[in-house]
Amino acid sequence: MILFRRYKRYIHVCLLMGLWLTSMSCAATESPAEKMTPSLYDRLGGKPAITAVVDAFVGNVANDSRINGRFATTDIPQLKRHLVDQVCSASGGPCIYSGRDMKTTHAGMRISTAEFTALMQDLVAALNTFSVPDREQKELLGLLGPMQSDIVEIP
Ligand code: HEM
Repeated sequence: MILFRRYKRYIHVCLLMGLWLTSMSCAATESPAEKMTPSLYDRLGGKPAITAVVDAFVGNVANDSRINGRFATTDIPQLKRHLVDQVCSASGGPCIYSGRDMKTTHAGMRISTAEFTALMQDLVAALNTFSVPDREQKELLGLLGPMQSDIVEIP
């Protein structure tokens, strides 16, 4: 009994440290599902697949009379390179986006919400051309959608 009292405080400290260590290791460790899910970049098929989607996307924009006038004087090969790097980087790939930020790029263009929607529809059509699954489409649109507030100036 005396022995138990002496070590009671020690046992308490050990128990608390055990709980603390367990909670720390749980917080630091990913769940098995998180560990096993590859990045969006990998699920899209890496840079070759992203390049193919961007090619189709820009082709759709070029045929879209709602917005193609916007790109009349644009350096299209450079735009494609920037879009590929932007999507690659945003989806967890190894690329570095070296273009301008979205606010600076589109400042003063007076882009409307309708034009933004048109461009997104052209992107979805390109993703469908390559049968990109719903989940990956949603994740990609989820990365690009929030850029709307930096791009659209006419609600
Ligand atoms: C989420 C949607 C959009 C994304 C991710 C995006 C991305 C980009 C990128 C990466 C560039 C190249 C930047 C650079 O060269 O430094 C660019 C340029 C451009 N974007 Fe967007 N854009 C979006 C929406 C739009 C919309 C809705 C329009 C108009 C309908 C538009 C019109 C343009 C034009 C005209 C340029 C070329 C500017 C120039 O020639 O200097 N963009 N965009």
